[in-house]
Amino acid sequence: MTQVIERQLPEVIQGGMGVGVSSWQLARSVSQAGGLGVVSGTALDLVLARRLQDGDEGGHMRRALAAFPDPAMAQRVLDRYFEPGGRERDRPYRPVPKLTLRQTAEQQELAVVGNFAEVWLAKAGHSGAVGVNYLEKVQMATPAAAFGAILAGVDAVLMGAGVPREIPRLLTDLAAGRVGGVGVDVHGAEHPHRVAVDPAALLADALPALPALRRPRFLAIVSANVLAAYLARDEATRPDGFVVEGPRAGGHNAPPRGKVVVDERDEPIYGPRDEVDLEKLATLGLPFWLAGSQGTPQRLAEARAAGAAGVQVGTVFALADDSGLTPDVRVELRERVAAGTIEVRTDLLASPTGFPFKVAQLPGTLSQPDVYDARQRLCDLSYLRTPYQTADGDIGYRCPGEPAHMFARKGGDVAETVGRACLCNALTADVGLGQTRRDGYDEPALVTLGSDLSGVRELVAAHPHGWSGADVVRWLTGQRASDDEVMSSRAT
Ligand SMILES: Cc1cc2nc3c(=O)[nH]c(=O)nc-3n(C[C@H](O)[C@H](O)[C@H](O)COP(=O)(O)O)c2cc1C
Repeated sequence: MTQVIERQLPEVIQGGMGVGVSSWQLARSVSQAGGLGVVSGTALDLVLARRLQDGDEGGHMRRALAAFPDPAMAQRVLDRYFEPGGRERDRPYRPVPKLTLRQTAEQQELAVVGNFAEVWLAKAGHSGAVGVNYLEKVQMATPAAAFGAILAGVDAVLMGAGVPREIPRLLTDLAAGRVGGVGVDVHGAEHPHRVAVDPAALLADALPALPALRRPRFLAIVSANVLAAYLARDEATRPDGFVVEGPRAGGHNAPPRGKVVVDERDEPIYGPRDEVDLEKLATLGLPFWLAGSQGTPQRLAEARAAGAAGVQVGTVFALADDSGLTPDVRVELRERVAAGTIEVRTDLLASPTGFPFKVAQLPGTLSQPDVYDARQRLCDLSYLRTPYQTADGDIGYRCPGEPAHMFARKGGDVAETVGRACLCNALTADVGLGQTRRDGYDEPALVTLGSDLSGVRELVAAHPHGWSGADVVRWLTGQRASDDEVMSSRAT
């Protein structure tokens, strides 16, 4: 088993960074250079709808939609969202359906088509491997999203931020064209709830005409031996490998084990109990990649020496020219890293998920108290909201990032709202898809990076005018660009 995976999945995995930072362009560039290019699978329904409303510059979304196996479904999405020439900058984007337990066909179609498009574009025109990354916490999104990615032939699915015990089965079912679903945690519920997608009902006539779908590999992102051992124990929950993510990684982190102790800057203190025992992990017999402060050639070599199949790297890829970050954010971050004028904090409050979240302290973003205080709280995208059972047995939804009085009215604890940022709106702003409100207010950004910026400094020195995802793979692995790769990157 180990050998098969190691042969198929490369030693460098580019992290799936949401929303849209791990764009199809970045994943494609990485995978053409021999790495596992990974697109972020978070909120791809919204990403597609907004790109179409912005006029779909370059026609890439429409190119992908033209390849979708059910042309009528792709056309419905285009009819709803495409605006030739793009919307006027000061007109708000139209809403997309919010995640719910009971899902409409319109809602699932946008998610299926959005995931298909991003993976299809990342895979187009080469034979490299492409993965998609989801968050376990965003449970209601997963079945439809995974089905769209499978339709596009995704090679691997990666998932962290929770216990992804149902994903192996979900991928097997969906690839076989069967109904596939996952359980959804509903606070206070008396009976279990599920969200499912039915490929036959969604695609109807198009499904039998499709070539057999391939089940992607599944890599579980874990931060502790016990979770890895738990998942590996049973065939039904066993992944095809692990990404072992440490507390210095960008994005969300697992909280420290035991009672959380903070330092003088209110950042959580991690200790030896938070380290994963790699020798013990290796006894599970599954390949693993190390993540979090692993993004240099030396770290890759050390990881291999420690028995890892390779590394998963985020920060240096996020700052590559082909990532989804807006050029001004990317360039400012690179300059600040080089000048040593950026700090990355592990913020215990910012994320509505309750997980610690790395925040780059960048002027003009929600990391700054004045920008944070000036934002009127509002939850209109709602990817991180969670369902709860109401007193009359109905289902409600709440997010600690919403206005405190509304959260309290829904039975939430007001203390949980303190310091929360609206990651949904902020992360879409990072990639140029942020909302403009009717009163002209532009949703501000909030940028996450890993704690270790040494790789970025090395790359800034070697590539002062910027680098591509492929440059990062070559730098990490010590290879030179092949002629094919240079030709194909010029052709796009
Ligand atoms: C900008 C950014 C966004 C990220 N977003 C996600 C995400 O949405 N889901 C996820 O599982 N990991 C996310 N991560 C974590 C990366 O996939 C990767 O594991 C991590 O960055 C590796 O550590 P490094 O930044 O030290 O290289 C993100 C990281 C960064 C830098």
